[in-house]
Amino acid sequence: MPVEQGKSTKRIIIAIDGPAASGKSTTARIVAGQLGYIYIDTGAMYRSVTLKAIRQDILDELKRSPGSVDVLLKEISIRFDGDRIFLDGKDVTEAIRENLVSREVSFISSLKPVRDRLRAMQQELGRQKGVVMDGRDIGTVVFPDAELKVFLVADALQRAKRRYAELASKSAGLLRLPSLEELEQEIRERDRADAEREHAPLKKHPEAVEIDTSELTIDTQVSKVYDLALARIQDDC
Ligand code: CDP
Repeated sequence: MPVEQGKSTKRIIIAIDGPAASGKSTTARIVAGQLGYIYIDTGAMYRSVTLKAIRQDILDELKRSPGSVDVLLKEISIRFDGDRIFLDGKDVTEAIRENLVSREVSFISSLKPVRDRLRAMQQELGRQKGVVMDGRDIGTVVFPDAELKVFLVADALQRAKRRYAELASKSAGLLRLPSLEELEQEIRERDRADAEREHAPLKKHPEAVEIDTSELTIDTQVSKVYDLALARIQDDC
């Protein structure tokens, strides 16, 4: 049941963090729709910067000399329009899901200048509140004061199966559908890189509510987060 967004209803920030394919984006998108909030997929922003590096063919140079990332960030625009994401004015919604982007995104997102730039964009997008934002560091770094912080986890094989089903349903836009084994390996590798990096590593904020989604249906995980959100909105009124 959608919440009535009357003038007196306080709008909050909902931060949803967790490892790859833990159900963050599906949950965040639906809860945002139910509350009449904006949904911001910060992973899509890191993927867009990665796609730009691939298209400019500067990944090897960046790996040798990470300081040269400023060239990449000098002129970049990332814009959301509903469910679509635009990089430098072009729709990259499907292109950022390619496996090559998934393999390289943890490297690009480990670079401090990239994180600084995207964090500033994300904080600006959340300034008006009424936002559900998902990622790896939303509750810990981007919005540590978010009224509701959620940390979603799930078993790695289960997550690979979900990602496989998701990619299979959209495979028309992809060059090649990876196997389940490749996906599980990529997910485990990305989890490790995201948790071990120096800047804004993936970790649970002490106040975040942890939900294990391994055995949950989408409907159940959505209603858990929605109920938590309603409780926070009512607390804060
Ligand atoms: O959808 P999936 O779980 O595969 O990942 P994503 O949300 O699209 O994020 C892709 C990658 O971006 C992550 O593996 C992180 O390396 C990075 N990321 C990040 O560093 N900080 C965020 N707030 C969001 C994503």
